[in-house]
Amino acid sequence: MADLFQARVLSNSEVCPGIFSLVLEEPRLAALAQPGQFLNIRVNAETSPLLRRPLSIHWVEEGRVEILFQAVGKGTEILARVRRGERLDVQGPLGRGFDPDPGDRTPVLIGGGIGIAPLGFLAQRLKGRKVLALLGARNGEALACSGGSKLEGLGATVHAATDDGSLGRHGLVTELLSEVPADGIIYACGPGPMLRAVAGYALAKGIPCQVSLEEHMACGVGACLGCICKGLAVNGESVHKRVCSDGPVFDVRGVDWS
Ligand SMILES: Cc1cc2nc3c(=O)[nH]c(=O)nc-3n(C[C@H](O)[C@H](O)[C@H](O)COP(=O)(O)OP(=O)(O)OC[C@H]3O[C@@H](n4cnc5c(N)ncnc54)[C@H](O)[C@@H]3O)c2cc1C
Ligand code: FES
Repeated sequence: MADLFQARVLSNSEVCPGIFSLVLEEPRLAALAQPGQFLNIRVNAETSPLLRRPLSIHWVEEGRVEILFQAVGKGTEILARVRRGERLDVQGPLGRGFDPDPGDRTPVLIGGGIGIAPLGFLAQRLKGRKVLALLGARNGEALACSGGSKLEGLGATVHAATDDGSLGRHGLVTELLSEVPADGIIYACGPGPMLRAVAGYALAKGIPCQVSLEEHMACGVGACLGCICKGLAVNGESVHKRVCSDGPVFDVRGVDWS
């Protein structure tokens, strides 16, 4: 059973329209967390919404854990109203995260929208390495506050693509894939179609690649089978995998993309 915390909210603020930074003070949680893992958060003490909401760990520093979330529905809108000093019922850290050891390969972080968030914590672990980040978002502001500016702050080389052309290339982040060096290793998080394109590219070029998948979740700990995705066994057979406990991060060779 995963650890439960009554985590103290240190701050919760809207960092750009619709995107919130939630900082929790919980040293034990911070010590346990690994890049790519997530927290399953109960957004209030009511019976509605009943289910916890899964949110990735964006940043860990001095006993604090930061989440970046987009307010898209009932749960995240309630979470957006949580105030400093309140306690949140948090389960985690959950799931299998990124393998943060790139060996002698060049780490390439590819993120789309709020999917950039978990790459921040990974970049913290890769500090001192030469990191290339290929990031996409609706505009430059959203890209920066979804984690882009933190990646730059850590010294990563950031190449951007935006829907409105306000930063970097006017288009999709997948249009930057040819910049991945042959000796690269890809770590990606973002919308499904982006991950599919990244996986296709990596598989075609023989570049190692780990992707963080998203599915609707209930228990978050592998018990309810509410988050199944199609995986591949080592013999190539299609098998069911639980995104919450077998993932959310998968080697692209272990996912059935058909
Ligand atoms: C492992 C994992 C990590 C995540 N990390 C982050 C993160 O760091 N920041 C962030 O903003 N969001 C993240 N999400 C997505 C987040 O969990 C959902 O946006 C949130 O649960 C929506 O709850 P809600 O009650 O506000 O929306 P709802 O009212 O439940 O739904 C609103 C809309 O969001 C869609 N939605 C709900 N849950 C998901 C989901 N799990 N995946 C995709 N779409 C969903 C619904 O279909 C609907 O269109 C993550 C999801 C997973 C599975
Ligand atoms: S959410 Fe229950 S098994 Fe994954």
